[in-house]
Amino acid sequence: MSVSDTTASVTEKPSHAGPHRWGFGIDVGGSGVKGGVVDLGTGHLIGDRFKLPTPQRATPEALADTIREVVKHFQWDAPLGVTYPGVVSGGVARTAAHLDKSWIGVNAQEVISAELGGQPVTLLNDADAAGLAEVQFGAGKDNDGVIVLLTFGTGIGSAVIHNGVLLPNTEFGHIEVGGIEAERRGATSVKERHAWSYKRWAPEVTKVLVAIENAISPDLFIAGGGVSRKGDKWIPLLKNRTPVVAAALQNTAGIVGAAAASAP
Ligand code: BGC
Repeated sequence: MSVSDTTASVTEKPSHAGPHRWGFGIDVGGSGVKGGVVDLGTGHLIGDRFKLPTPQRATPEALADTIREVVKHFQWDAPLGVTYPGVVSGGVARTAAHLDKSWIGVNAQEVISAELGGQPVTLLNDADAAGLAEVQFGAGKDNDGVIVLLTFGTGIGSAVIHNGVLLPNTEFGHIEVGGIEAERRGATSVKERHAWSYKRWAPEVTKVLVAIENAISPDLFIAGGGVSRKGDKWIPLLKNRTPVVAAALQNTAGIVGAAAASAP
């Protein structure tokens, strides 16, 4: 099964012609592997986003296969960016909090590139990709200083960006806050599991934000992930010091950030 969820469509093979360069990004999530062609001047998607379900047992081989299908859909044959929901250094996956543990220690960047017949791949953390996209094109666009983007979903992802430069792999979702791992306290999955209201959930998110601001005093938090679409329902309930704004790009941030990261 596949899902195309925008209205415009790509009718021709993507090229690099036009006022801006184009890039290609793939966002690997717990439920879907989503790809799209990105206008690197505006951060907008060109045509449809295309999504395939994440394989049940998401091993490197199984996921690389799904990624190949998504790339094939667009006939994209140039460098591309791919997100990974864990720590990535030098193309190697170092953690796999929500994926098959067989990823750990694998040079996923090479595995995916080999599956694509040698196409150059840039692999980066999913929240880092979303952070880059929001700072370049979205809610952090006109803000210099230290920006922390948090993605609320199955876990909590984080990106720290200072004057447009990313400090990769911050992993604030795994810091301990009041004796509980931050993502076990404030992820959207926790809210859903307990059927909490926004009012019940917001104090947990506040505790996570306060722990981060006590450590690195950011100038702005950007709240990402699906729940950012309802930001007006819960962001006003937060009681931390630093301003919090909802992400602007929402479900395309990972794709856009991955494409931007892969552009030379
Ligand atoms: C992982 C992060 C990831 C986040 C969101 C966390 O559990 O450790 O690397 O960014 O989930 O997917």
